[in-house]
This record gives sequence, C-alpha cells and structure tokens, in this order.
Amino acid sequence: MKILVTGGAGFIGSHTVVELHNAGFESIILDNFSNSEKKAIAGIEKIIGKPVKYYEANINEASTWDKVFTDQKIDGIIHFAAAKAVGESVEKPLKYYRNNVGATILMLEKMIEHNVNNLVFSSSCTVYGEPDKLPVTEDSPIKSATSPYGNTKQICESIIKDTALSSDSFHAISLRYFNPVGAHESCLIGELPLGVPANLVPFLTQSVAGIRGQLAVYGNDYPTPDGTAIRDYIHVVDLAKAHVSALNLLLKQPKDKFYDFFNIGTGKGSSVLEVIAAFEEATGLKIDYAIKPRRDGDIISVYADCTKSKQLLGWQTEKSLVQALGDAWNWQKKIS
Ligand code: WQD
Repeated sequence: MKILVTGGAGFIGSHTVVELHNAGFESIILDNFSNSEKKAIAGIEKIIGKPVKYYEANINEASTWDKVFTDQKIDGIIHFAAAKAVGESVEKPLKYYRNNVGATILMLEKMIEHNVNNLVFSSSCTVYGEPDKLPVTEDSPIKSATSPYGNTKQICESIIKDTALSSDSFHAISLRYFNPVGAHESCLIGELPLGVPANLVPFLTQSVAGIRGQLAVYGNDYPTPDGTAIRDYIHVVDLAKAHVSALNLLLKQPKDKFYDFFNIGTGKGSSVLEVIAAFEEATGLKIDYAIKPRRDGDIISVYADCTKSKQLLGWQTEKSLVQALGDAWNWQKKIS
C-alpha cells in the first residue's frame, strides 16, 4: 500500500513516514520545504534503510495533485502540510486560510477526482480552546478559535467531515494532537524549528545548548498546583504510531459513510515546571529559567482523555515525558 504524506519532511511527518514503513506501508512525501529540510528525508532513509520518493511541490497548485496522482497509485493520504505558527496566524490570517483551508479543499477535490479514498487529517487540541472540564474527551465542546490557526483546524475538520459523509467510498479521520515533543531514538530525525522556537521544549533544549538565552516560564500565577500552565506532552513517536492505527481503521471500512475524530495525547497533564523537572531528571542538567508574565493567548490547562483512541484505534502512548525530553536533548546535542 502506498501512502502520500503531505508535509512528510516535517517534525511529525518524518516520524510518521518511519512508522508507516515499520507497519509495511510505502510512503511518498509531498513537501515544499517551507518549514522543513531535505536532510529530514536523508534521516528517514537511514532509519528505514531504503530510499523515500518525494515531490517538492506546492499543495496549493492543482498541477501538483494531478502529477502525483497520475504518477503514483495512492491508497491513502496523511495530511500534515500546513502553516502552524499561532502568533503568525494572527498577523497573516489570509496566509493561513489559503495554505490550510484552501489547499485542503483542493486536495479533497483532487482526491475525489482521482479516486483516492482514505484521509488522515492532522488536527489539534487547539479546537477545544480553554476546556470547561478536564480531561477533554471527543465530546467536549469545540470553543470558538482563539487564533486564525486554530480556526483553520476547526474549519478543515468540518470540510473533511462533510465531504466524508457525502460519499460511501471516501473515508476520513481527524487526529486532534496535544503537544508533540521528543525525537526518534536514532537522533537521525527530530524537530527543526525555523528561527526562535515559540514552543516550550525546543526553546528549552536550545537554551540549554547555549543557542538561546534564558528560558522564560510564561506565568506562574495560573490556578494550577504549581501556578504554571498545564499541557499534554506526547512523544512524537507515539503520535506517529497513532497515524498508522488511524490509517488501518480507515482501510478496513466497508463501503459506507465514515468519518471519525480522536484525541491523541498521553491522558496526563504536565505543568511547565514539571516539564523542566522531567528534563532535569532525564539529563542530569539544571535549567536556568526565569518566571515572566503570562503569554497572550495561552490557556490555563488542557490534557486529553484518550479512552476513545484506545478502544477504537487500539492505540495508546508507550513513552514517558522523561523519555521524550531525553530524546529531545539527544537530538539537540546532535544538531547543535
Ligand atoms: C506550552 C506551554 C506556554 C514557551 C502550541 C499550539 C498548538 C500545537 C502545540 C500545533 C505554555 C509555555 C512556552 C516558552 C513557556 N501546535 N511556554 N516558555 O501553546 O500549548 O500549543 O503548540 O498544533 O496548536 O498552540 O505549546 O509549547 O508553545 O507552550 O513557558 O518559551 O509552555 O506558556 O503554557 P502550546 P507551547
């Protein structure tokens, strides 16, 4: 079976291509390398021991899809390619609506035109906003998005759902990720943030590596046990495996309408200070940080109830936060 992985040279995409290989699938990568590097493909090839075919092209162009679907018999798509910087989305909303929503509509049209009938979509826990109740289940209410980025995820989920429910043969699953962290144990692939990382763990590892200044902990006056904000940090390899489980669920669907969505997290919330403590446990290093004011747009706490993923996908996390931070540090040392 041949799977097209859009954004397959990216952080989650590259780890998913490895897990697809491990599960016996062949991957084709489609990436414009706007937020990834070709060395990620070299890293994947070293891990799996075989070449990976890729297309360097723009998902916003119809010709891209016509070429890929004419060249390759694609059995399914895992769609990662999207702009994902929350802050940038506030400054450049149209870039996000064009890249994330427009391109997804074009992809769906081309999938139907070329009879490609299985889609796993990269969504985000950001659709839940600030949850009223924790942990969040898939029945938790979708809050109005707090950024254009989050809105594009909500809009794409609706578009994909409506498309899947209009057809007996086109099936789709959305995976709502929590916070992906870590790197492959080989240190051949990992996170390659462009510029100054907005996310906690890459900034933390770059700070410890001396690439960035002191780590800022954004707020310790939240209504949480230690005052810092809580998230659900999931090892990127566990996250990658969830995509294989979702694909397998799609591929066994009978000819009938099918759409579903799943929380993909650890089920455990960790505060910023707990992440720092876990990093220090994993590495034996002390982190120099300073408490700063809260960051605009941050929510207090969100973490997943993954019962549905366990029951219907037969998937659950296997790696701990300490392992993820140890892998993140080993990767940082490798690329610094
Ligand atoms: C986590 C916590 C910060 C940096 C974002 C997107 C989400 C998803 C994951 C794509 C927060 C604190 C951070 C720092 C800090 N992306 N922090 N110092 O904001 O939960 O989620 O990335 O789908 O959609 O919104 O992740 O890592 O930026 O922040 O104290 O230097 O770490 O305040 O409490 P976030 P994050």
